[in-house]
Amino acid sequence: MPGLLLRALKGENTPSRPTWLMRQAGRYLPEYRALRAEKGGFLPLVYDSAAAAEITLQPIRRFGFDGAILFSDILIVPYAMGQDLAFLAGEGPHLSPRLADHALQALQGVPERLLPIYETVRQVKAQLGPDRTMLGFAGSPWTIATYMVNGEGSRDQHDTRAYAYRDSAAFQAIIDAIVSVTVEYLSGQIQAGAEAVQLFDSWAGSLAPREFERWVIAPNAAIVAGVKALHPDVPIIGFPKGAGEKLGAYARETGVDAVGIDETIDPHWAARELPKDMPVQGNLDPLLLLTGGTQLEKRAIEVLEAFADRPHVFNLGHGIGQTTPIAHVEQLLGVVRGWRG
Ligand code: CP3
Repeated sequence: MPGLLLRALKGENTPSRPTWLMRQAGRYLPEYRALRAEKGGFLPLVYDSAAAAEITLQPIRRFGFDGAILFSDILIVPYAMGQDLAFLAGEGPHLSPRLADHALQALQGVPERLLPIYETVRQVKAQLGPDRTMLGFAGSPWTIATYMVNGEGSRDQHDTRAYAYRDSAAFQAIIDAIVSVTVEYLSGQIQAGAEAVQLFDSWAGSLAPREFERWVIAPNAAIVAGVKALHPDVPIIGFPKGAGEKLGAYARETGVDAVGIDETIDPHWAARELPKDMPVQGNLDPLLLLTGGTQLEKRAIEVLEAFADRPHVFNLGHGIGQTTPIAHVEQLLGVVRGWRG
């Protein structure tokens, strides 16, 4: 029998809630910080498949989560498309040359940069119990494009939104190129052992409705169609962070099997508005894991109750914070595992 998480993603209303947390491997874990220090940084860790597999498994060993998410980053795709990638301490990621002033066509793809990631998936899968689910992922084209165009993160994706208005044909070409690499990349992860995949559209919330249709819904639909043509039975979770009232259209029009919701969405609204029987993932505010206490417990129960009548994967509304106390993660898991609605 497949694990609870895969069952929920395939539409089953499971007897207890499968749980994993976005960014569950990372700096809040001392065992992560130790291995990162030994390897000398984030990218060397990602490119050492044995170490990346070990990092992927650390939170499974410690907390028994139902899903193991590949330890990597969404910016591996632009790196494979030929941009240079660096993670500078305290500054976040940098990509160069930035496409705001450099043509996409001048980049030389380096597809071999994807291969060590597949090896990580293979190594995790070989060590994962049969009741746990191996999750692959990629960034969605709009979110990836914001980094490729601007060269680094930005508060409201101002430069990329302006670029997309100014030269929508050139921007469409960037999006199309990301779609095609992403279909290949997700298929490679699935062939290596990923049993479900998530598309992270972290900056979906900055777009006006028409642009949301063009740069979020359409390219995610193209990726889903491309991956489904090769792997029709592998569930795809779409996570359009910040989509708000556009979430319903996203859920209906992209073809994703399950939708991840962030903490700004009222779970009761989501339970009512999203297609009946579609699995939902989310959406506890990660900040509640910093505070803990009764507030954490009350809000976790509210999420569990709201999704009692449909398949649900318990998760946060966004990644876990790096100063999260481990005791609060344990407290949360006690609530979710003990809940009988
Ligand atoms: O969920 C997981 O644990 C899987 C691994 C994963 C990472 N990043 C590891 C990581 C995943 C799925 C991501 C996704 C990602 N990366 C997103 C989309 C999700 C989101 O958070 O909105 C984005 C926008 C990125 C780009 C990125 N990577 C940024 C902006 C940063 C710097 C900010 C930060 O937290 O340091 C990263 C670095 C990064 N990616 C770290 C980790 C564990 C921190 C690396 C370290 O310094 O140890």
